[in-house]
Formats: sequence, C-alpha cells, structure tokens
Amino acid sequence: MTPGIRPLIAGNWKMHGTLREAGALAEAVRAGAAGLPADLLVCPPFLHVPSLAALLAGGPVAVGAQDCHAATKGAHTGDVSAPMLRDAGATHVILGHSERRADHAETDAVVRAKVQAALAAGLIPVACVGETEAQRLGGEAEAVVRRQLAESLPDDFAGIVAYEPVWAIGTGRTPTEADIAAIHATIRETLVARFGPAGQGMRILYGGSMKPGNAKAILALPNVDGGLVGGASLVSADFLAIAAAAG
Ligand code: 13P
Repeated sequence: MTPGIRPLIAGNWKMHGTLREAGALAEAVRAGAAGLPADLLVCPPFLHVPSLAALLAGGPVAVGAQDCHAATKGAHTGDVSAPMLRDAGATHVILGHSERRADHAETDAVVRAKVQAALAAGLIPVACVGETEAQRLGGEAEAVVRRQLAESLPDDFAGIVAYEPVWAIGTGRTPTEADIAAIHATIRETLVARFGPAGQGMRILYGGSMKPGNAKAILALPNVDGGLVGGASLVSADFLAIAAAAG
C-alpha cells in the first residue's frame, strides 16, 4: 500500500466466458462489492464490454478492456480502437500484457502508442511490465522493468502500472515478498523521477498468481496499490476475498 492511494483490484478475465457466464460473474462481483476497502475493475473480452458496462453502470465496479489499437480508426481487421471502447462504456484498458507482448509481438513502442491512444480517448491505461524467468535468473529483472517503463510509457502518461513477472502468471508461483517490494520500489522511483509528484500518486498493481491466500501479505507491501488478477478473478468469491484483503 501507499499512503493516500486507495487500492484497485482488477480482474483480467482474458479469453474466458460466454456472455451469459460473464454477466453472471459481473453480477456476483457487483453484489459483493459494497463496503470493500478497494476499487474494483473487471476486464472481460472485447465482445462483452458493452453489455457489462451497461449492466454495471452506476455501480461500484468499473469495466475495462484488455487491449486496444493505437489508431482511432482505419483498415485494421479484427482490431478495436480506444474511442470505440470508451463509447462502449469502458473506463480502463490493460495494455502491454505479457500475453499480448508474446502472442502478438507487441514491442514497447507499440505499447507506448496504444497507451497514447487510450489517454487521448479518455481511458485509463493499465500498462503492464515484468520480466521473464530467464531474465529474473540472470539478475536482470530490475533493468528489464526499468527499460519497459522508459519505453512503454509516453511522456504524458497518467494511469496505472502493473508489475507482472511473466513466470508468475498462471503458474501458482510468486516472487518473494522482498522481491515484489524491491521491484515496486524501483517502479515508484522511476515514476517519480519521470513524472514528479504525479508519479507518487500512481497506482502500482502486482499481478501473477494472486489468490485469496497470498493477497493480504502482497497487498500490505509498500508501493503495492492493488492487484491485477487472472485466474482467481473468474471466481467471484475469490476475487472479492482478494479485494477484502486490501484493507
Ligand atoms: P494469474 O492471476 O492467473 O496468474 O494471471 C495474472 C495475469 O496475467 C493478470 O493480468
């Protein structure tokens, strides 16, 4: 936690759920959201963004997407633009997730262009960084994260950063608390050096095998201002338990 920052627990639903399942999960999250010590965000697949935004409108659970194109419109088959997401009711968009970087060859420059597009459309970007296992074992984790931040964030960045070590995603493995705290301190330092006081107020989320059982310890660490939750966000009770652990 960072004094003065309200935690955010964000669910990255990845490519899961029919519309019916997504609606039921969203309703269950909304039903349990009252009184939690964290803001809540759910990020369903593109296809479900409009219906979930309508379903959750006016309530405590925000809706985001998992990607957007860098252009506002054009001949980009299969893509979705940031203004379209805003129009559909999304308030946030996850960008530069390691699965996008790996599966779709997204470079830092591509991520930066997408972050700029999100900001221009009035969306809050959740920019993801994190090292691979080989990079961690090679002692390069901090350098990789610094480089990703330097190159993935535009100079006018205003948003959320998520630290997700690639090797912790979906594996049940997490870094030690000391390792998480060290990287989050590096991220905070980098944000403050680049963005001044605004960098002090930016949320830094941890992601990678966050579960009800480890959430409290992770969320208590300095500069951990919430979580970006994959698998456990698909079970409403687990997602809500993680949010409850933010208090
Ligand atoms: P898991 O919580 O399933 O490890 O996924 C983390 C993640 O990638 C969130 O964006």
